[in-house]
Amino acid sequence: MSPHVEVCVTTDVLVVHGGAPLHGEIRVRGAKNLVSKAMVAALLGDGPSHLYDVPLIRDVEIVRGLLELHGVKVTDGAEHGELVFDTSNVERANVDEINVHAGSSRIPILFCGPLLHKLGHAFIPDLGGCNIGGRPIDFHLQALREMGAVVDKTPSGLDITAPNGLHGTKFELPYPSVGATEQVLLAAVRAHGVTELRNAAVEPEIMDLIAVLQKMGAIIKVHTDRVIEIEGVSRLRGYKHRPIPDRIEAASWAAAALATQGDVYVRGARQADMMTFLNTYTKIGGAFEIEDPGPNSIGGIRFWHPGGELRATALETDVHPGFMTDWQQPMVVALTQARGLSIVHETVYESRLGYTEALNQMGATIQVYRDCLGGTPCRFGRRNFMHSAVIAGPSKLMAADVVIPDLRAGFSHLIAALAAEGTSRVYGVELIKRGYEDFEAKLAALGASVERG
Ligand code: EPU
Repeated sequence: MSPHVEVCVTTDVLVVHGGAPLHGEIRVRGAKNLVSKAMVAALLGDGPSHLYDVPLIRDVEIVRGLLELHGVKVTDGAEHGELVFDTSNVERANVDEINVHAGSSRIPILFCGPLLHKLGHAFIPDLGGCNIGGRPIDFHLQALREMGAVVDKTPSGLDITAPNGLHGTKFELPYPSVGATEQVLLAAVRAHGVTELRNAAVEPEIMDLIAVLQKMGAIIKVHTDRVIEIEGVSRLRGYKHRPIPDRIEAASWAAAALATQGDVYVRGARQADMMTFLNTYTKIGGAFEIEDPGPNSIGGIRFWHPGGELRATALETDVHPGFMTDWQQPMVVALTQARGLSIVHETVYESRLGYTEALNQMGATIQVYRDCLGGTPCRFGRRNFMHSAVIAGPSKLMAADVVIPDLRAGFSHLIAALAAEGTSRVYGVELIKRGYEDFEAKLAALGASVERG
């Protein structure tokens, strides 16, 4: 057991009796990484907004709390999973109350644009989110400054004003950051004039946020070559939106099916958002079957291990349409079961392979490297970051006591424990609730033998 285990709170433990395949059906709902941003977008509307299929996860609770602190009335709608946002009384929030949320999520930084438009002022607490690298916000602040914002860094957070309002600008991101692209979208839709954003991120969640904003009356053109042009408008209305499904959660269960030699139907999963993942799944020997949505079904994807040996592969994480960095950790667990040497080159975050230590503790053979292995050189190659991994398989995974370091790594620990022979104790499972709705109920539905420690 790692020495960290001793200091963990004992109730935050899942006891996993592993070694049995997962079998059954679970459902994924709206994508965490869209839902939280669509909730922020609601602030921009003059009328009420309705967001459907919202998963009950910690990140949603945090954003809901922050909206409520700013006077937004958030209520549950008539439909299960529907949230209604009434923005008729948006007001400044108490800094101490905002700071209760310090360190809990990355989303508060996206409140800048909407709050500047509504109130002329935004206070942003220290950010949190998963500890997977430096996670700077320099692109966000640079873009906001170019649009006329004045950023004052105080000991408790960022104090942001726009003395002359926000105006359009031409801005090129040094890297296609998801968050910085969303920042520019949420600020530029109501800025004065036209904004041209170059080297923008074009993840499906961003396209869905653009769909939300267009419903609100925004004028946004997505050109080829990562160029997004936003014509500012003076008013926006509320929206009604059903988000894209969570492709990270879907891929996590798909990897769990493979690692445990199981068979999982992920209701709600959508092929269009998962093309790159599905290619890799096929290459390593996993099987899937797609059910398109029909008159009586939202559709989904069945993922299973067809028997025989899985094949090793080389993969490189990248911005869309590449292999998502959030698919990497669950997939690595499946790759511990593949014959041969698999290579993973993480090019989005500099420090997202630390979790492999716990997998080695469970019997995997994974070596991490500073070099850019198997792919083209990336930003981290010359900067001494352990960002490539070689996985030698297949390995028989054995139970162990492990501590979850972050959300996606946490789910990979859980998958490894489910695949391993014997009883594991997984510490820090509350972290998984940040992004996986009802995961314990879903595990039960898939026949997993788990209980709280
Ligand atoms: N970056 C900068 N400066 C910035 C912003 C980003 O250098 O101002 C760098 C980051 O350090 C990183 C890279 O750009 O190396 C990409 O970061 P990005 O801004 O794209 O990530 P993010 O918006 O903070 C979102 C998701 C992540 C997901 C990434 C990549 C949310 C809330 N988070 O993060 O999801 O991994 O995009 O797709 O949408 C998760 O769900 O567990 C998660 C971490």
